[in-house]
This record gives sequence, structure tokens and C-alpha cells, in this order.
Amino acid sequence: MNAMTAMTADLVIRNGKVVSPDAVIEASIAIKDGRILAIGADSAMPPAKEVFDAAGMHILPGAIDDHVHFRDPGYPHKEDWESGTAAAAFGGVTCVFDMPNTIPPTADGDILAAKHAIAASKAHIDFGLYGLLGDENLATVPELLDGGIIGFKLYMGNTFGKIASPDTGATLELFEVAAASGKRVSLHAENNDIMERRQKRLMAAGIHDQFAHLAARPPVVAIEAVSRAAILAEWTGARIHVLHISSADELRPLREAKARGVDITGETCPHYLMLSTDDYTRVPGVIAVNPPVRESRNQEPIWRALIDGAIDVIATDHAPHAPEEKTRNDIWTVDCGFPGVETQMPLMLTEVNAGRMSISAYVRMSAYNPARIWGLYPRKGALLPGSDADIAIVDLGREHTIRDADIQSRSKISPWDGRKVKGLPIHTIVRGRFVMKDRKLMDTKGWGQSVHKIQQMPKPQVRNAEHTMQAITAQRSAGRREQIA
Ligand code: DOR
Ligand code: ZN
Repeated sequence: MNAMTAMTADLVIRNGKVVSPDAVIEASIAIKDGRILAIGADSAMPPAKEVFDAAGMHILPGAIDDHVHFRDPGYPHKEDWESGTAAAAFGGVTCVFDMPNTIPPTADGDILAAKHAIAASKAHIDFGLYGLLGDENLATVPELLDGGIIGFKLYMGNTFGKIASPDTGATLELFEVAAASGKRVSLHAENNDIMERRQKRLMAAGIHDQFAHLAARPPVVAIEAVSRAAILAEWTGARIHVLHISSADELRPLREAKARGVDITGETCPHYLMLSTDDYTRVPGVIAVNPPVRESRNQEPIWRALIDGAIDVIATDHAPHAPEEKTRNDIWTVDCGFPGVETQMPLMLTEVNAGRMSISAYVRMSAYNPARIWGLYPRKGALLPGSDADIAIVDLGREHTIRDADIQSRSKISPWDGRKVKGLPIHTIVRGRFVMKDRKLMDTKGWGQSVHKIQQMPKPQVRNAEHTMQAITAQRSAGRREQIA
């Protein structure tokens, strides 16, 4: 056997336009054992068992959606790991991070292990699981870390699932613990006290139209929460990620915190970029989401922040619910959120086609940045030799109309129904295997695996260690032991 046959690739993807955060190059990609073996001129590719012609297509690192709710275990009528990851595969998404507001919430080692087993048995694509960071489960944080989480989720404000929001004292202590772990904490950054009070007052006044939901959550709830979180993160050294940035106003505390060196990153979602209060009457209730879709004046500043890098990540907050749960007349009883994991890429590619940004800029926010900030780069989020072969093959010229009835998600109701897009993922590959091919789902249930084992966060950067509750209580109990001795 000569060296060449030893180097036979499993798959070579020929003639595509390979997109990185810096450039688009005509190249072929050789894949072996789930990883990228070589990338370059077609003549330089090793022999392969299978050759796939991607002429005319763009080859992107698969999107990493760091914010989905796959509802499993707990709400099988809304979604489960099979339907959710099928939707992801159709959306060119090769890795998702799932939120902990399932039943029971992902708050201790046993529940985490059970969720890992469910996800591994059903997922078409790779995944990470968030562990809950709440006042009630401070004691189980070590179990969550041992069990393998991608990061923490802390609900500063209430949303679907009614997980209690820690007060500021608890949040500080939770950040102390998170800082020591080095993991990043994703934040639902809305001030709970303000929202609860306003909602109660509005309800008491008999106001229950959909704009009341917006009225209960003015931008100041986000400004306050982002500012406070940044202060506590700066003090403790906790790494934080501001989810679903919805307002122009919260960008200032985000930018200021970044400028003073806080390890803070940001995310937004297509609905804050492309929808506004002008859409409320078109899709009443359906558009209800936390944080709310706001006035159109917010869109441009959020776009600008995404393109200049103040916002690092485009994700979806994929939050599926049943039609009946989305169309109730009383807004206070409507379940908030809608599916998005499948539509993010076509919606954003439509903007690439419209000249809003380059396709390289898109790849930076959809794959490169999430991989970097979650400690997965360059194994994920890149098309480099040695990277996992997680790939979205897209036809930038393909026009398509989004139809709720056609989406893979079990939730067939979204504000995107009828929306025309240009740019569609046609094939999706996870670790070298097609999970979606020619817009058809492959027989890949159970192929997905957890990425926590390949995560490498930088060393923890704890600050003010001497002030942590842990340090102080340890010191005091040592002092007592000395006195007794
Ligand atoms: O609207 C929302 N729905 N916002 C969230 O933060 C949670 C999500 C859900 O789980 O339904
Ligand atoms: Zn969410």
C-alpha cells in the first residue's frame, strides 16, 4: 500500500466557494474520519471514496446556534430532540446549545445525565447543554460541571417555564461560582422586578392587548439588566453572554463594558433585525417573544452593532409552541417565542444578497464567533485541516418562500410564514456525514453528540477572590477550628 491509498479521503467536496471569516476561495475539501483532511486546489486532493460536486455552491462552516429550546424532556407537543435537530439540519445548523427550561429544569447532575441520554439518542446534529444557574441550585453547580455542560443559563428576568429569577445578592454569588469554573454564563437580561410590577398593574387595569406585553418590558429592563450584569461580571471575573439583544438602548452598556475589558459577549436574533412593532397586527400573539420585538428604530443600531462586532453572535432563541398556545386573545396567557433554528440562515443570506454584509461577515457571526467564545474553535466553527467537517452547502441564488406548514419543527406557527428569502442551505454535513441532502433529511437520528468533551475554555480569571462567599466562609470556619484547637 503506498502513502496515497493510506491517505484516501472518505469524501471530497469539489468546486465550491469556501467561505471563511476573511475570504471566499474556490477550493475543494477532503474529509476523513469526520474531520477536514485537506483544503485547497482540486488537483491537490487525495483520492476519495466519494466525490461530491458543489459547483456553484458556497461552502460555509455549519452555523452554531447557541440559543435553542428543544423542550425535551417536558413538552413533546412543542418539540423534541428529533424534530428540533431536523429543523436545525434544514437550516444549515450543525451544532446547537439547548436551554435548561425543560421539565424538570436542567439543574442537577441526574437531570443533566438524563437529558444527555435523550439528546444523544435522537439528535441529527451536535449539541451542548446549558446548566441552570439559579438560587435554588447553587449546591448542585459542581454536579453540573462534572456532568458536562457547555455553559450556564441565568434568568435575570422571567419567561416561559417560570424559572425564578435570582435577586442581586444571589446573582453575585452565582457569578462567583461561575467565575471559578471558567464557563460562560448566558443571560436572559431583563429586570424582573420592573416587568412583574408593570404586568401586575396592567393586568389590574384590565389591559391585555398585545402591546401591553411590550409596555410591561420597556428597553430600560434590558439596559438595567445588562449594566448590572456587567458590573457583577467585572467584579467577579465571570464570563457573560447577553442573549437576544432587542433594543438599541442596551448596546451602550454592552459597548462600555467591552471597552473596560469585561469578558462580555452579545447575541441577537433575526426577529430583532427584521421585524418590528409594525408587524404586530399582521401576526398578533404569534410575534410575542421575550424580550419583545420593538419599534423599528431599534433595527439599524442592532445591525450596526452586529456588523461592527459589538454583538458577536447571530442565534435564534428557537422557542417552539403549539398554534393554540400562540393565538389566545389575552396576551398574558400567550406562550412567548417561536421557531427559528431553520430560518436564521436563509433570512440572513437574504441580507447578504441584498448587500447588507459580506458572506464572510455572516460566517463570523454564525460560526466563527460562537465557536470562539464557547471554547470550540478551531475544532468547530472553521473549515481548516483538523476541524470537524461540519458544513452547510448553500445555494445563494435559490429563492424560497418560508411556509410554517413546511418547516421541520413541530411548532407550525411563526411570524415568518410567507416570507420570501434568497439563499438556502441545500445540504448539511455533520462530522463528515450528510444529515440533510438535497433538502431531504437523512437517516441520521442519534448521530449528534455532545460537544462538552471538546470544549476548552480559557483559564478562569477570578477577580476579588478574597471577597467571595466561599473564601469568607472557608476563612471563618478555619478560624473557628483554630480557636477550638
Ligand atoms: O420568548 C421566549 N421564549 N423567550 C425566552 O427567553 C424563552 C422562550 C421559551 O422558552 O419559550
Ligand atoms: Zn431563549
